[in-house]
Amino acid sequence: MKKLCLLSLAIGLASHSVMADATPAPIENKDAFVSNLMKQMTLDEKIGQLRLISIGPEMPREMIRKEIAAGNIGGTFNSITRPENRPMQDAAMRSRLKIPMFFAYDVIHGHRTIFPIPLALASSWDMDAIGLSGRIAAKEAAADSLDITFAPMVDISRDPRWGRTSEGFGEDTYLVSRIAQVMVKAYQGTGLIGADNIMASVKHFALYGAVEGGRDYNTVDMSPVKMYQDYLPPYRAAIDAGAGGVMVALNSINGIPATANLWLMQDLLRKEWGFKGLAVSDHGAIFELIKHGVARDGREAAKLAIKAGIAMSMNDTLYAKELPGLLKSGEIEQSDIDNAVREVLGAKYDMGLFRDPYLRIGKAEDDPVDTYADSRLHRAEARDVARRSLVLLKNHNETLPLKKSANIVLVGPLAKAPIDMMGSWAAAGRPAQSVTLFDGMTRALGDQATLHYARGANITSDKKVVDYLNFLNFDAPEVVDDPRPAQALIDEAVKAAQQADVIVAAVGESRGMSHESSSRTDLNLPANQRELIKALKATGKPLVLVLMNGRPLTILEENEQADAILETWFSGTEGGNAIADVLFGDYNPSGKLPISFPRSVGQIPTYYNHLTIGRPFTPGKPGNYTSQYFDDTTGPLYPFGYGLSYTQFSLSEMALSSTTLNKTGKIDASVTVKNTGKRDGETVVQLYIQDETGSMIRPIKELKGFQKVLLKAGEQKVVHFSIEEDDLKFYNTQLKYAAEPGKFNVQIGLDSEAVTQQSFELL
Ligand code: BGC
Repeated sequence: MKKLCLLSLAIGLASHSVMADATPAPIENKDAFVSNLMKQMTLDEKIGQLRLISIGPEMPREMIRKEIAAGNIGGTFNSITRPENRPMQDAAMRSRLKIPMFFAYDVIHGHRTIFPIPLALASSWDMDAIGLSGRIAAKEAAADSLDITFAPMVDISRDPRWGRTSEGFGEDTYLVSRIAQVMVKAYQGTGLIGADNIMASVKHFALYGAVEGGRDYNTVDMSPVKMYQDYLPPYRAAIDAGAGGVMVALNSINGIPATANLWLMQDLLRKEWGFKGLAVSDHGAIFELIKHGVARDGREAAKLAIKAGIAMSMNDTLYAKELPGLLKSGEIEQSDIDNAVREVLGAKYDMGLFRDPYLRIGKAEDDPVDTYADSRLHRAEARDVARRSLVLLKNHNETLPLKKSANIVLVGPLAKAPIDMMGSWAAAGRPAQSVTLFDGMTRALGDQATLHYARGANITSDKKVVDYLNFLNFDAPEVVDDPRPAQALIDEAVKAAQQADVIVAAVGESRGMSHESSSRTDLNLPANQRELIKALKATGKPLVLVLMNGRPLTILEENEQADAILETWFSGTEGGNAIADVLFGDYNPSGKLPISFPRSVGQIPTYYNHLTIGRPFTPGKPGNYTSQYFDDTTGPLYPFGYGLSYTQFSLSEMALSSTTLNKTGKIDASVTVKNTGKRDGETVVQLYIQDETGSMIRPIKELKGFQKVLLKAGEQKVVHFSIEEDDLKFYNTQLKYAAEPGKFNVQIGLDSEAVTQQSFELL
């Protein structure tokens, strides 16, 4: 198994901690520098700095440059090459005070090289791999003149109806918080002033993943304890890791839109958490305060937003239009504007732009000859990260790995789908450079066998859905149907399957189905794909499902029909090669679910760490008057933390170093994990803790640690976890973060359900 750290070293990731800080001495003290500059700025110049505009292909470049030179724009997003951004920076250098522009972009899971979608990255539970993806993204983005990314997206998502579940790292507070830190450090590198580092703007602040009913842009209502305990820690972790920016969420929180939310933006973010960076609105969010019904008009919207502390307004013009009048009438104060300007200039200072406005733009003679050249990609790293993110859900009779000598038929709408392979928010990734499953498998087989192919089904036969998905895309339709009738496609696939030893079906969602504004009421595979699977099953041939999707799907029936299921999410540029590596056993899968798979939509939410209740359902002991849905099995189809390997692992009973813990002490919890199978492999050993009795009800368990371990066939290893009082703390009804004495259950397992348990007492 190739060790990731070698790759990390090659691109300089592993050297962070040891590298001497190459940061040159600052021009002068940051506050003094910014204050001095602000003294020279007119009101219009100040307000100009608060404007962040999206650059579309249709926009008049000449006019934008004029606006920049007049000091009316602070930064852009969506212009992503050096030749595009250089003339805008030149224009800024012609402005009266020569305040540099910054250039931002949604670099979410890669820039030119597309890595697996965030939900897939989380499935690796591999912090080195996740960090590597972020570091490469930063390097590639910076090399294309970008200064800021609107990432990481750390919204806890417990409702897979929400399309943006794909963009986050799953349902668990601890796992998402760990990843939040890793991503921020990966983007920002040794320091923002470095030419190959970019600023991270954590989003969407806050609680966006909890929109009611999983419907995008909907309201959020949440108790303070739930916020503090479950939803806020990932943002906090990103900020504590040094995230320079925060993007404010589009949703409301307990009746007040985040964009106008004084408690959120002032009391919590700035006062309680001490955030000193840049707060940017989401797209058009200031204007939307009118739609939310908290602002009568644009004037009031601008007032609410600036008062809340929204420093930059993304793509609306309300600040420029309304702030001067609001100031004149005394409805806002000069300090409201100055605080915002200070944040923008401070961010530019931190990014090294005052020292060198061309830090990431570089010199024209150094521009890449071909921006899209394949040599600019990091394919080896993308392939390795992608295969670490694949989750083996089922493997009946060791159907997988496939023999390369086998007669294989590949079917399904996602077998040859380069756009979908990249997932949504694929930044500057190019479909032509992404490896499809068909390509990956063909390459892996070489001349050992021919891969047979039949499409079998379109993504969906529902024209309304196809129209919706294509409406989302401005450039070209993404979902292109095979015009033959659905039955003809199935017949062709069945005929090919009858000649084969094994069927591989690439089924799931198109990427647009798991995207912003793509909420679903039904998480089944589309009906026509289910028909295809049924027909394939009827051939009696072994059936492998390769799932591609941006959220957990309800696959109860397919789970029965398939012999093996590999969850691949959307794996990025090298997806086809990575999936082929796993299908043929060149890589032994090690991913674990970062989110539970519900059995049905009606069960949602299915997150594992729910609160204890008075009448819990006890598996194996059915009965009335316990908490359950009587018409289905209780519990998820696949639990959080679940994932198989081509080898088997056993866990010993857990040993606890003590049955009591005092406030300053530590307990060691250990298990022996053994690879009892015939192949080398990795697994994730997970530590859960339950606070049995507290002053308020507590979750049935909570993830508190994990270790990914590599074991050779037959090898065993003792895995230790250290538990201390800090691990037992929670926010009580007074929002005090403290541990309470009493009994705690410690569980260790290879998923969140199958665990070994011991207890101790906190004194
Ligand atoms: C999304 C943000 C994104 C922004 C800019 C918005 O619609 O909610 O996540 O950063 O667009 O592309």
